[in-house]
Amino acid sequence: MRTQTSALRSRHLLGIEPLSPEEITLILDTAEGFKEVSERPVKKVPALRGQLVINLFMEASTRTRVSFEIAEKRLSADTLNFAASGSSVEKGETLIDTAENLMAMHPDMIVIRHKHPGAPKMLADRLPASIINAGDGAHEHPTQALLDAFTIRERFGRLAGLNISIIGDIAHSRVVRSNIHLLTKMKANVTIAAPPTLIPAEIEKMGVRVVHSLDEAIEGADVVMMLRIQLERQGKLSFPSLREYYNTFGLTPERLRRANRNAIVMHPGPMNRGVEIASDVADNAERSVILQQVTNGVAVRMAVLYLLGGAHVVE
Ligand code: CP
Repeated sequence: MRTQTSALRSRHLLGIEPLSPEEITLILDTAEGFKEVSERPVKKVPALRGQLVINLFMEASTRTRVSFEIAEKRLSADTLNFAASGSSVEKGETLIDTAENLMAMHPDMIVIRHKHPGAPKMLADRLPASIINAGDGAHEHPTQALLDAFTIRERFGRLAGLNISIIGDIAHSRVVRSNIHLLTKMKANVTIAAPPTLIPAEIEKMGVRVVHSLDEAIEGADVVMMLRIQLERQGKLSFPSLREYYNTFGLTPERLRRANRNAIVMHPGPMNRGVEIASDVADNAERSVILQQVTNGVAVRMAVLYLLGGAHVVE
């Protein structure tokens, strides 16, 4: 075991920012053990038998929602999926009233995705269940960063010292914020690249290098992580056109040649093919680990659920 700790300090996972490097390593090491469960003929362990997990998704999701549900089922938890659409949220019921009513049915954990930053913290402050942030506005998406780190570590055997370039819609991305917290805590060298209109002020204070050229970001990179242009979070385009964006910041096979020989390409999904990434790169079996990220999402979410599921939390 590489970990120096055997438990998380909090019973919630609200973000990567509060985690220590040892806690991050604990989650990644635990996920390594759980990855093997998904390769067995019987893909189930009894770890969370008798526990109820509610998946409260108030914003669209494919990968996160489905992989949390699979992870819960593989740990033998009882699961309930709640979507805003078709619920009393459509009649105006507030988030806290919705959550308190769900709490009255005694869930042990609530996994929440919400468009407002801080929504998971609000539930954590008021409810006795463990709260897991599955993405809150442009704030954090901790399990995405953990599965990204797991995928990088699986390929390179380490995070420290790697050159990791994150390129795209930095301004609207919760994935980038969680990744910056995680990768800098784990001593990777992080470069951020985007047009100036898509870079938040003072992001350098998070310990990253900022460039405004795709070629500069890719030169010497071990990991090239592309981010989706979040059209739904932009009032109007932050650049002249999608075609111009692709011409200057889209990842093509030619541009990728500047990266290191063994470099990998990542994307949290969903992808805008032909906007931030060419299909020839996204589907390149040698370079792209995009579907491996999705596979690893189940093991990482199993680890988080297991570690928050009661006996392993110090608090
Ligand atoms: N990466 C990610 O969060 O994807 P979904 O929005 O499909 O869950």
